[in-house]
Amino acid sequence: MSDVHICEVGPRDGLQNARHLMATEAKKAWIAALAAAGLEEIEVGSFVPPKLIPAMADTGEIVAFARMIPGLKVVALAPNLKGFQRALGAGAHKVTFPVSASRAHSESNVRMTPEQMVEEVRKCALLPHPGVEIEGAVSTAFGCTMQGQVPEDDVVRIAAALAEFCDAVALADTVGYANPAQVKRLFTKVRAAIGAKLEGAHFHDTRGLGIANALAAYEAGVRHFDSSMGGLGGCPFAPGASGNVITEDLVFMFESMGVATGIDLERLFKARALLSGAIPDEPIYGHTPQAGLPKGFRAAA
Ligand code: COA
Ligand code: ZN
Repeated sequence: MSDVHICEVGPRDGLQNARHLMATEAKKAWIAALAAAGLEEIEVGSFVPPKLIPAMADTGEIVAFARMIPGLKVVALAPNLKGFQRALGAGAHKVTFPVSASRAHSESNVRMTPEQMVEEVRKCALLPHPGVEIEGAVSTAFGCTMQGQVPEDDVVRIAAALAEFCDAVALADTVGYANPAQVKRLFTKVRAAIGAKLEGAHFHDTRGLGIANALAAYEAGVRHFDSSMGGLGGCPFAPGASGNVITEDLVFMFESMGVATGIDLERLFKARALLSGAIPDEPIYGHTPQAGLPKGFRAAA
């Protein structure tokens, strides 16, 4: 049994912002290797217009492939009703909607205001979707490169609206503005408003605080984390956004603390080799894979 749940978002958040396209067959091999390392949840792509993000054009085929991996929860991002219908058609187990708390980012990212986007998600949730989980992810929850500060009351209000019809709500630091004190404060505030529906934490490492923020969220009771192999990632519609918190380092942090992730680090490094082999010119990061595991390292039981 794992103490924390890590969702690998590299195939979606990572590849949407990568300079190099990964071939469909290479994506499949990478996803299979991630699952073999013990990742039980992978966000494999997004259902957005292929013209807008060509790297996500094969998401339907990728979802169909990933569904065949036993025990894997296959997550896809959708920005609207059409994306949700495509996700249902392809057989995703969970669909995540990005709902920006920043009006400027919302309009740039999905061409809707935050209020319009909440209504779009509500429309989707009202459609029959047997067995499919819906997550509302409050993006730019900790600040926005376009708007600057994002009032905490706006985040609480959007999270509360989403909690009415979503199975789970996440808070996302889309542009890497968060600090650990803010993370503890905001997760505590939102939990006071919506209780256990608040699940996921999605951090970017833009200012080097991704892992510190993840630890702060853990200490504030969060048990579901997004991260990206090699620290790939970033939103193409948020200027200055860069990579997610690095999966390899996040797993190392938890395992060395005695917090079980269910993920095998040596196998994770094998998946990393597939990633760097498939897009060799894309810079990838990670302290733990570069330094190696400490002598005598023992994973959490
Ligand atoms: N998948 C595929 N095609 C879609 C689509 C989807 N989810 N949503 C809309 N389209 C198509 C429409 O059918 C239409 O096609 P047509 O020109 O052939 O008629 C075209 O795209 C424009 O549709 P429209 O509803 O006007 O969309 P838009 O141009 O206002 O864009 C979004 C709105 C939400 C589709 C777009 O902003 C988007 O995909 N945003 C997400 C960006 C993202 O992935 N960000 C990073 C992750 S947070
Ligand atoms: Zn992100």
